[in-house]
Amino acid sequence: MAKVLVVDDEPGMRRILTVNLRRDSHVVVEATGANEAVALLGREDFDVVVTDHKMPDGSGLDVLRAVQDDDPTTSVIFLTAVGTLELAVESMRQGAFDFITKPFIPDVVRAAIRRASQHTALLRENAVLKKEMRKLEGADEILGHCTEIRAVRDIVARVAGTTSSVLITGETGTGKELVARAIHRNSLRAHKPFIAINCAALTETLLESELFGHERGAFTGADKARGGLFEAAHEGTLFLDEVAEMSAAAQAKLLRVLASGEIQRVGSTATRKVDVRVLAATHRDLQERIREGLFREDLYYRLAVVPLHLPSLRERGDDVGELCASICLRIAEEMKVPSRPISAEALAKLKTYAFPGNIRELRNLLERALILGQQAELQPEDFHLQTPGAPLRSPDGELTVEQLAALLPKRLDLREVMARFERALLERALEMTNGVQAEAARHLEISRSDLGYKVGKYALSAVPRANAD
Ligand SMILES: Nc1ncnc2c1ncn2[C@@H]1O[C@H](COP(=O)(O)OP(=O)(O)OP(=O)(O)O)[C@@H](O)[C@H]1O
Ligand SMILES: [Mg+2]
Repeated sequence: MAKVLVVDDEPGMRRILTVNLRRDSHVVVEATGANEAVALLGREDFDVVVTDHKMPDGSGLDVLRAVQDDDPTTSVIFLTAVGTLELAVESMRQGAFDFITKPFIPDVVRAAIRRASQHTALLRENAVLKKEMRKLEGADEILGHCTEIRAVRDIVARVAGTTSSVLITGETGTGKELVARAIHRNSLRAHKPFIAINCAALTETLLESELFGHERGAFTGADKARGGLFEAAHEGTLFLDEVAEMSAAAQAKLLRVLASGEIQRVGSTATRKVDVRVLAATHRDLQERIREGLFREDLYYRLAVVPLHLPSLRERGDDVGELCASICLRIAEEMKVPSRPISAEALAKLKTYAFPGNIRELRNLLERALILGQQAELQPEDFHLQTPGAPLRSPDGELTVEQLAALLPKRLDLREVMARFERALLERALEMTNGVQAEAARHLEISRSDLGYKVGKYALSAVPRANAD
């Protein structure tokens, strides 16, 4: 069912059209000439317009132009007298959807209207999708105008077209993943997969089989052969997030893949060629990890062909105001709440804040303020900042050490508390890693031998060990 505007100066013609179209349950509005049609188009929305060519007060082309100004997704069908084929061709050239010669066969008209209304529906759907896409793309834009972030955007634009690996560093919430996605989106690989993996979230063996895949029977539970992420990202981009957390063995394998461009599934000796662009990110200082022997220097140079450091929000001074305004608009759009400007006082308060969680934290603060604030502008009291001396929660929501300390009894023996705390942490790390000491040491960021010493000191050898190492 469509809403159709019928434009003709002959009442008989209008009546036949209307009767026929109503048989298909279309809603029909009639106009007696070009002027009335143009006026109606300005007031109402139509799916299809059927218009005569020559009318005393104007032509069908005038109606077509009005449609194109008003809503170009409306489909226009011309009625032309036999012998005016040139006019019909001209109207199609100018964007009409179809033409019908008079006298017409009712079924032909009805079929033409059906096709035209389907065409309109498709155009409108397409317009909605395009708008959504633009919104999504806009949501991924790297915002900010300070010198540092401009340099970041500049490097993103310059490396995007290459296949160089980029190592993105920066504190939590500074936009490392956002930048990785922007590089992919602006590259020649944009229409191929972008695959992200968090290297910290998987154990050593799982990470290897995730990255490189495995053959059937390669380990217990591997009942089917499976390709890894390198294969899935073929011709696209693989984003290795938290790359500093990779085990020594995984680092060695990754290096081999990057050097040869070939992968070997776990449990297989066959090699497969892969064409993958690797982007990596870490919030850690990799140079320091190298000095401590925790990260391979040769791998670092493979990953950091282009190193890209993202500034913390503290270093971005004047950007805070612009970020607040743009992020408020995005949040308002996403959450379907009205956006509100931020007051000068509230902005001044934010500008003196340290933002340990950087832009992610700013976004969360603004979201809460927009939802809970009561006034026309966002006020200082709408922002509950962690005061530097007494943080309540770390940016990712975990208890901070300060908060833990506040929970302890007032009178305590420092040495005893520290020892018990250390023991509890060691137990937790060993539990998390099923007693695998190498992994527990990595979690705790201490050396393997240091952990061995502490395990002996606290007599922790009784910890259950599913996978003794
Ligand atoms: N320059 C920026 N412009 C707009 N939004 C940003 C910018 N930087 C970060 N954001 C937003 O901040 C949030 C955190 O960004 P992202 O996840 O990329 O950070 P990250 O550096 O990967 O953090 P983590 O180390 O915790 O994983 C996202 O919502 C992102 O859209
Ligand atoms: Mg991230």
